[in-house]
Amino acid sequence: MRIASLPDFLLQRIDRASGGPVNRQIYQVLRAATLSHQLPAGLQLPSSRELARELAMSRNTVTHAYEQLIAEGYLETRTGAGTFIADTVPDQIVEVSQSSRSGNGSDQAGHVGLSNRGTQLIQRAGVSTLQWGAFMPGVPDVTQFPNKVWSRLQNKHWRRSRAELLTYGQSGGYLPLREAIAEYLRVARSVNCRTGQVIITTGIHQSIDLAAKLLGEHGDRAWVEEPCYWGTRSVCQSLGIKPVPIPVDAEGMQVLQTDRSRPPRFIFVTPSHQYPLGTVMSLSRRRLLLEYAAAHKAWVMEDDYDSEFRYGSRPLASLQGLDTHERVLYMGTFSKTTFPGLRIGFLVVPEALSEAFATGHSELYRGGQVFTQAILADFMTEGYFASHIRRMRVLYGERLRLLQQAVGRHFGDAIDFSDGDAGLHLALHLPPGCDDRAISRKALAAGIITRPLSGYYMQAAAARRGLMLGYACVPDQQIAPAFDKLAAIIRKHWPA
Ligand SMILES: Cc1ncc(COP(=O)(O)O)c(C=O)c1O
Repeated sequence: MRIASLPDFLLQRIDRASGGPVNRQIYQVLRAATLSHQLPAGLQLPSSRELARELAMSRNTVTHAYEQLIAEGYLETRTGAGTFIADTVPDQIVEVSQSSRSGNGSDQAGHVGLSNRGTQLIQRAGVSTLQWGAFMPGVPDVTQFPNKVWSRLQNKHWRRSRAELLTYGQSGGYLPLREAIAEYLRVARSVNCRTGQVIITTGIHQSIDLAAKLLGEHGDRAWVEEPCYWGTRSVCQSLGIKPVPIPVDAEGMQVLQTDRSRPPRFIFVTPSHQYPLGTVMSLSRRRLLLEYAAAHKAWVMEDDYDSEFRYGSRPLASLQGLDTHERVLYMGTFSKTTFPGLRIGFLVVPEALSEAFATGHSELYRGGQVFTQAILADFMTEGYFASHIRRMRVLYGERLRLLQQAVGRHFGDAIDFSDGDAGLHLALHLPPGCDDRAISRKALAAGIITRPLSGYYMQAAAARRGLMLGYACVPDQQIAPAFDKLAAIIRKHWPA
């Protein structure tokens, strides 16, 4: 670029009407042009007086911008000669970028520079852009959370304000919370555990990440349920662990159907409430799975994400409680029982692994949130957790009934749904030719969140068509009208 064109270059990029200080805009334009080499090193700039005149601005405005760029090293002044674009690119960087551009194939992931692993993660992403509204699956009614109680407990801790609560977390998490969780799990979930085996994490995603990093090797295989929770697949794949889909039937994962000669390192299961289909793993399947895992030294990863919510019967005991070979890692979360934004979950590991996991967690994630963990510990020990779950069970049970009624009113027996006795969502089954992804897209455009059931399958040929509908977060009176809208969209896509 010749010096003569610099004022035009700036004028095209400065927006005086934007309200932003013009000296700041000049600074930003020149800085960006320097970094992108549009203005090459060594180029002489007009004097501030000259440029101010060309731009019809006060000289102060230009001087401010120049001074800032000089202070940051983008421009340099040479006594008696003027102001120049500084040479800011170190030689080594020039060499590296030239050799990588010369076609050694290191940038296969495309222009944005993602690694292969990053590209795959983003391409297969399952996470939803919206997290609230009818019928967002897997989200509890956060508006019902007893925030007055929480805020009182929080204030109590602020008044005491101990350094211990404000610094980095202890290995394994805040001890009173680990104790409260261990007690709760022993009583409510028949989990066999001592406090030291409980590791506080930021949720099931982090629990999987930690276990996969500490127990798995790149290239290992992990059996996952077909269909399964997208997060399990994504975290495994991001660590080079290959998910192998194992079909589920009414009794849970079909261990017998599997190629048992090639044992996996991990087996991920949701035995209390299969995600997304809602079945409960039978006792004989549980025992088979545990025997298989013990014989082949596989780790069973029990994902117990929403077992607190059973409406017709008592919650079922955990798989971990049946294990006598120390092969099960039990994963739980507060995302469904309190509110997902809390981001606290827990992992119960076999006794022999407890120290390694506590240290590994601190080493990898440098845990914190001790203050929040202290509030949650009180929330549990003072009985608020149990009473909140009891209250939500009644509320969600009623919402499930309202949704089932709405489905029945529109479709009678033409549509069936997963065993709707538990959890926060319902899987609605659609006929084979029905395009559940298209329905889901149309529904979203009409303001209704659903997830296509086929999206949870790894093998397209095995995929059942359907929609995942979360009812827990939808106020009673909105359930029928929201389903009316959805039903109209489903009808348009009903196979002839
Ligand atoms: C089966 C299953 N596992 C794990 C999670 C996520 O748990 P967390 O919020 O603790 O990461 C979910 C969330 O919907 C889930 O459905």
